[in-house]
Amino acid sequence: MAFRTLDDADLQGRRALLRVDFNVPMEEGLVSDDTRLRAAKPTVDKLRAGGAKVILLAHFDRPKGKVVPSMSLEPIVRPLAKVLGVPVAFATDCVGPKAREAVSAMQPGDVLLLENVRFHAGEEANDRAFADALAANGDLYVNDAFSAAHRAHASTEALAHRLPSYAGEQMRLELDALHRALGHPERPVLGIVGGSKVSTKLELLGHLVTRLDKLAIGGGMANTFLYAQGHDVGASYCEKELADTARDIIRLAGQNNCKLFLPIDIVVAERLAPGAPARVRDIGHVDDEERILDAGPQTVERLCRAMNNSKTLIWNGPLGVFEMPPFDKGTMEAARHAAKLATAGKLVAVAGGGDTVAALNAAGVSDDFTFVSTAGGAFLEWMEGKVLPGVAALNQ
Ligand code: 3PG
Repeated sequence: MAFRTLDDADLQGRRALLRVDFNVPMEEGLVSDDTRLRAAKPTVDKLRAGGAKVILLAHFDRPKGKVVPSMSLEPIVRPLAKVLGVPVAFATDCVGPKAREAVSAMQPGDVLLLENVRFHAGEEANDRAFADALAANGDLYVNDAFSAAHRAHASTEALAHRLPSYAGEQMRLELDALHRALGHPERPVLGIVGGSKVSTKLELLGHLVTRLDKLAIGGGMANTFLYAQGHDVGASYCEKELADTARDIIRLAGQNNCKLFLPIDIVVAERLAPGAPARVRDIGHVDDEERILDAGPQTVERLCRAMNNSKTLIWNGPLGVFEMPPFDKGTMEAARHAAKLATAGKLVAVAGGGDTVAALNAAGVSDDFTFVSTAGGAFLEWMEGKVLPGVAALNQ
């Protein structure tokens, strides 16, 4: 894909509408993780350095086209100003007179955050008139919100067709990393897909077995595969109705020479509670009242060996209940091993998805991975091989 980049743009005095993803975790009205704010800084800096007026467009949560005060972007202003190291103005609407007035008061280098674009129904409807109203405040459009690019919304899609459009720095980083991991990876390439539900990752698994050399399945979804192979899973979470689908995926992997890694041992407990007594069992040896809550040591060791013999790793989803020791062990050990290989330059290690990033942060290894995506849903859809509307709209 070819994108216009900001290196080609004349920015001096121009009004740059910059779509960012500030859908950040908040606790009691305060930003609890500013990763996405920090991710916007390189593009904001670049636009300011070129003399542009930086007008930030973003959504927060899902207000469904109505003004919901608890979903205002205003609480972002202060932490954002801190991250950027410059004052940030705020307009209480993203279109209309309030936005217009705030934009006309700007000087080159100024930064303005407009209120939640999803307060207008036209945003999610990808409405042309709403996109026109947004475009009225800009001379150019920059999309830096890879993590919202799976949404065909007015500020991520229609707007790109109304103004000269550019990919921001974070967008470029994300696309480069994903291309390196799945587009044209150095082989062999190993995938790890975990998390609880097969049902949410069916398309992903179906696509990956046609692209990867090896795929390790972990987390709750591995239980469905074990069950499909005739193993007892006790009281574990398991989507028994998907047993046929799991067998189809196993077959498809075989046809595509993708080596599947399912758990060979597991960690079980009778209750899911912090510090609950846990036992290691071979697969198939789970009592009726026991639940599978983590990958066992042999499974993790085999996965680490698979990493040693791979050049690229793409990871989405934890191997166990990583939020709750002692069931975090499998995920933590695998994450640390991947990080060690990546730091030594032996593995291109790319990870993404909300839970995965939280798990890598908990293991303290996010910075050691080659790339950790800021995206959740968009990362998954990209891994599924889907075209992301926000990316396609920038393509020339
Ligand atoms: C995200 O947080 O993954 C993106 O901002 C998309 O949010 P959404 O799922 O509400 O569209």
